[in-house]
Amino acid sequence: SSSKEHDQEDAIDELIASLPISKGLVRPVHSLYQNFWCPTPLLPNLIAFQRHFEAKDKDILLVSHPKSGTTWPKALVFSVVNRSRFGISNTPLLSSNPHEVVPFIEHKPWPGPDGMTEPRLLATHIPYPALPESVRRSDCPIIYICRNPLDTVVSSWHFHLQVARSEDRPEWSLEEHFETFCREEIMFRPFWDHITGYWKESLERPRKVLFLKYEDLKEDIVGQLKKVAEFVGLPFTEEEEEGGVIEEIAKMCSLKTLQGLEVNKSGKLLNTILEKRSFFRKGVVGDWVDHVAPSMVDRVNSIMQEKISPLGLRF
Ligand code: A3P
Repeated sequence: SSSKEHDQEDAIDELIASLPISKGLVRPVHSLYQNFWCPTPLLPNLIAFQRHFEAKDKDILLVSHPKSGTTWPKALVFSVVNRSRFGISNTPLLSSNPHEVVPFIEHKPWPGPDGMTEPRLLATHIPYPALPESVRRSDCPIIYICRNPLDTVVSSWHFHLQVARSEDRPEWSLEEHFETFCREEIMFRPFWDHITGYWKESLERPRKVLFLKYEDLKEDIVGQLKKVAEFVGLPFTEEEEEGGVIEEIAKMCSLKTLQGLEVNKSGKLLNTILEKRSFFRKGVVGDWVDHVAPSMVDRVNSIMQEKISPLGLRF
């Protein structure tokens, strides 16, 4: 009943009000929820998703840490999964931003979005332990994308400066941004727990979690697309391979193509303050070399030595 719904909403508001918060350069306010820092305005959707989402084995979940190059695999996975419905001439990517085609669950009210065509393709930034029970239990595949942490921090600096400029707020230096990054009280961090949570799961359940790296996509997009297609149970046929379907998808989803589309050049993402064009910048591996001071590099390297190298993960 609607009064029951109101009670539930009140209970969620109370829960959110009771959480520790953190305010910093990167807006909005963040709350510490289930051991990660979540932008507070996203919590109602996220909690509703955790409570109401019933995963189906056919669903596909795309997960990343913000600024790990999420936009790219959104376009790629969508194209792979829907290649029998859409060709390059009529793909929805021509008229919608990849974030509109594959929504983040935390940007949508739940229950929903039903009426989605199956297989449902959804994206999220939440850490593995915070995924709904039904996602972890079911056979629905999870694709995780990560990126060299130094490129991620540089990318995130540019992105958040753009947001700040659009709100007429003062800018800050990369050094300040790096400090914020190290303090970890923002954007679905701790960063290292986020990565290792999915990494460990991909080792234990390789059919459940596919762990991709941005750098590998850059190096061998065709090989990586084949891996994705097999992982979601839709391997490319010989005919498709010979007909150049993989290369076509790669080209359609390239930074150059997507960045050049009218739909991605201006305007904001639905329900957000985010400029669509801010998701496309340089897309270069190792961009950090021109920006990051040696002391920052040392600091990140020593954290990586401690937190991820022992798990066999390298960048
Ligand atoms: P840079 O800022 O280094 O250029 P996210 O998608 O997680 O928000 O991450 C954004 C980063 O991915 C940006 O990196 C952006 O340029 C890059 N990116 C977006 N679309 C891409 C694509 N189609 N191919 C390669 N990189 C892409």
